[in-house]
Amino acid sequence: MNVDGRPLRTIWPAADGWSVEIIDQTRLPHELQTVRIESLEQMAKAISTMQVRGAPLIGVAACYGLALALRRNASEAAIDRAAATLCATRPTAVNLRGRITELREQLLARRAARRVAFAYEFCARITDEEVEIGRRIGEHGLALIEKAAALHRQCPVNVLTHCNAGWLATIDWGTALAPVYRAHLAGIPIHVWVDETRPRNQGYLTAWELGHQGVPHTIVVDNAGGHLMQAGEVDLCVVGTDRTTAAGDVCNKIGTYLKALAAKDNAVPFYVALPSSSVDWSIASGREQIPIERRSDSEVHEVAGLASNGRAASLRLTPAESPAVNYAFDVTPARLVSGLITERGVCEASTEGLLTLFPERRG
Ligand code: MRU
Repeated sequence: MNVDGRPLRTIWPAADGWSVEIIDQTRLPHELQTVRIESLEQMAKAISTMQVRGAPLIGVAACYGLALALRRNASEAAIDRAAATLCATRPTAVNLRGRITELREQLLARRAARRVAFAYEFCARITDEEVEIGRRIGEHGLALIEKAAALHRQCPVNVLTHCNAGWLATIDWGTALAPVYRAHLAGIPIHVWVDETRPRNQGYLTAWELGHQGVPHTIVVDNAGGHLMQAGEVDLCVVGTDRTTAAGDVCNKIGTYLKALAAKDNAVPFYVALPSSSVDWSIASGREQIPIERRSDSEVHEVAGLASNGRAASLRLTPAESPAVNYAFDVTPARLVSGLITERGVCEASTEGLLTLFPERRG
């Protein structure tokens, strides 16, 4: 995507040929700052503090973290230690574990002397792969927006999204936002309701992205979605996912489930956009089998923003003695999902639906 005329991705190899640069997403939406990552430890920290975030992006970032670790030590034991460190950073998004497992297996099949170069080649390949996947998700999702536009008597098509599943959460294009960008580029009038997404407010990243691409949007507080749907102000919901089970249950940012319930009650289509690397083929039940990340309660107690002097500041919101709990994700059962938008097309949120698009997973 272009930001003020500058083509940008969320992660890229630095000019020195070995370190890695990222957009520091903890500085957005107020400041576009890049950070150079030089070690496994720095990458693990960037993932856990959410300087990089979003399921597809943390999968790629983790692989770069492993490549950086190999520069110090490319033995099997060192690979396993680094893989364990990276997998522990964020437990819910299956992409991270999936990509690291894939890279680890391929590394172990090679001689130690070849491993560093191979790891960087692998990272470059999966980075391009994620971009192409986002482009295809956009293409398939565009058809759904075109359908909504055709049904629509008034303009624009109103899409509601939760969290940030745009290019910042991937490498480019995004998942949930890829169809929105495609529709905007195709000249379809479109407007996005952007959930704030407490406590980390990823909705502000969505708003920042959409604003830079000229897509009309409005930020709403998390509790507004139900009201908007009752008022007929939402044509379809599109969200991303951190892990989708083989039966089509969808684990995404906390609050997604409530939007799906409101969508069902108001007959608003509720779509989930995902790369197939977000499908966990080994499990069926999201509620019972997906580990839900619990983050620091300080994210609930405090809010970060810009003070009136223009400096970054953090404010305490809650009573000093009140405890808080911070579940980062929830599970939306497949029965509430109208369809899954993948790089291979749109399918029903069910085992059969997924297997129609990914027949190689049968059996
Ligand atoms: O905690 P985050 O910001 O990493 O959570 C991100 C989401 O929940 C996204 O919706 C999901 O990763 C899909 S990103 C294409």
